[in-house]
Amino acid sequence: MGKETCGNVVLIGFMGSGKSSMGIRLSYRMRYVLEDTDKLIEARAGKTISEIFAQEGEETFRAMETALLEKLVEKKGQRVYSVGGGTPVRAVNRPLLKKLGTVVYLRTRPETIYERLREDTTRPLLQGENPLGKIRRLMAERESAYMETADIVLDVDEMTADQVADAIMSLVGRTRYTGQR
Ligand code: S3P
Repeated sequence: MGKETCGNVVLIGFMGSGKSSMGIRLSYRMRYVLEDTDKLIEARAGKTISEIFAQEGEETFRAMETALLEKLVEKKGQRVYSVGGGTPVRAVNRPLLKKLGTVVYLRTRPETIYERLREDTTRPLLQGENPLGKIRRLMAERESAYMETADIVLDVDEMTADQVADAIMSLVGRTRYTGQR
């Protein structure tokens, strides 16, 4: 089944860009099943993401992400996928994400992420000194991977959640419609 006919929505973007909360909102509004890959990995491993990073290392986590995507592309049905901020960075994951559905990149400025995640302790990659510097560097490194994977790019800093959801629903519908003709 091609992506034009399956109609899944895949949300990508930096940590704190709103993928998980937008996934919940979209799944409710579109009546689609929600799949959050970080949560699926945590459930399968029986550990939090922080524990996986600390005990098994980032590479093991990345391998878990790829193995999960390989399983998810086999699933049928109308779904909204919210994936980890680093998922598009591994080259092997990019075609899998595209196969999964219409990929929407929730793009943000580093300062927005910094403000949102100031108190957050659940993202191992942003702990320690100079979190804003880390956000800037990682975001710059990842931008080309996000852009390569995305079918749709939304600059969400100044948008309300409802505006983002409306935009996605209208753009994804149009993408799908065009694809079927
Ligand atoms: C990561 C993002 C996290 C999680 C892990 C690594 C990243 O997901 O997968 O901490 O490399 O950007 P969120 O984007 O949902 O925070």
